[in-house]
Amino acid sequence: MSPSWLPAFSVPLPPGSCDSPPHPHASSAFPLLRPGGTAEGRVAPGAREAVPDGLAAPRPPPTPACPRPADSPLGARGLPGHVARAQRFRFSEERGPGAHGAELEVRVPQVLHLQYGMYVWPCAVVLAQYLWFHRRSLLGKAVLEIGAGVSLPGILAAKCGAKVILSDSLELPYCLEICRQSCQMNNLPCMQVVGLTWGHISQDLLALPPQDIILASDVFFEPEDFEDILTTVYFLMQKNPKVQLWSTYQVRSADWSLEALLYKWDMKCVHIPLEAFDADKEDIAESALPGRHTVEMLVISFAKDSL
Ligand SMILES: C[S@@+](CC[C@H](N)C(=O)[O-])C[C@H]1O[C@@H](n2cnc3c(N)ncnc32)[C@H](O)[C@@H]1O
Repeated sequence: MSPSWLPAFSVPLPPGSCDSPPHPHASSAFPLLRPGGTAEGRVAPGAREAVPDGLAAPRPPPTPACPRPADSPLGARGLPGHVARAQRFRFSEERGPGAHGAELEVRVPQVLHLQYGMYVWPCAVVLAQYLWFHRRSLLGKAVLEIGAGVSLPGILAAKCGAKVILSDSLELPYCLEICRQSCQMNNLPCMQVVGLTWGHISQDLLALPPQDIILASDVFFEPEDFEDILTTVYFLMQKNPKVQLWSTYQVRSADWSLEALLYKWDMKCVHIPLEAFDADKEDIAESALPGRHTVEMLVISFAKDSL
């Protein structure tokens, strides 16, 4: 897919090298390219999400730091006709010498709704566990979550001291609303929520400050979106070449690959084994959601970030 909407000035497609320096836990540079792998797990979020009739709100103004009720495209009470049910995740410090028994609880809303962003996906629990494992490095970091939905990883990062901005598609106001509800549920009412549609160079994207970490849980499920996602990431790499994309994806098809796109967009990728951050189990954070789903953890960065 060619990003035809992109202004010419921001689409240099420099030939790049995907050589990855050896990562202490890297086992494959391109885990999405897994010949012989098997599709597995929960039903794939395959079809594109449709905006139900009447919900295609005009572009709202940028979300202020503390949104007033009137700023919500769906009204003060959030999602009319839908009851949000809170789901709790409790992260605990791994046992070992020097452990202090640290714990952190995150509650997120879930709503019975056809849009994928209204649920916690197994990938989100695994990515949140990765953040929990690296919580000491999060303090003061600028973190953007894309395709956040109920935003478990972003909320956890904020509770660990990161400066977090949540985002979901500008065209999916329900998903933006559930981002806001998640902030409220965790007593983070001033967290910024913006509408960012992958691949669109919007005013809100242009206005973002440089980021240190981009979080992306279960966004690589529709191959035709892959390049749009990487385009957004590439744009943020222009603001900070050292930004990293921390992403989890669920293995649903052996045929999907990021390799060529990473090469095209001058990015490199390392695969972090789950055992490296205590996520190689069916229950994480007192949730059975990860179950037996095959989830992979990737860290993607600019191929020349050491220059
Ligand atoms: C499978 S859900 C994952 C939600 C959440 N990250 C999680 O793992 O629990 C995919 C998310 O991507 C968002 N999304 C889908 N298409 C998008 C687009 N074109 N731009 C931005 N976000 C999009 C959806 O609204 C949804 O929140």
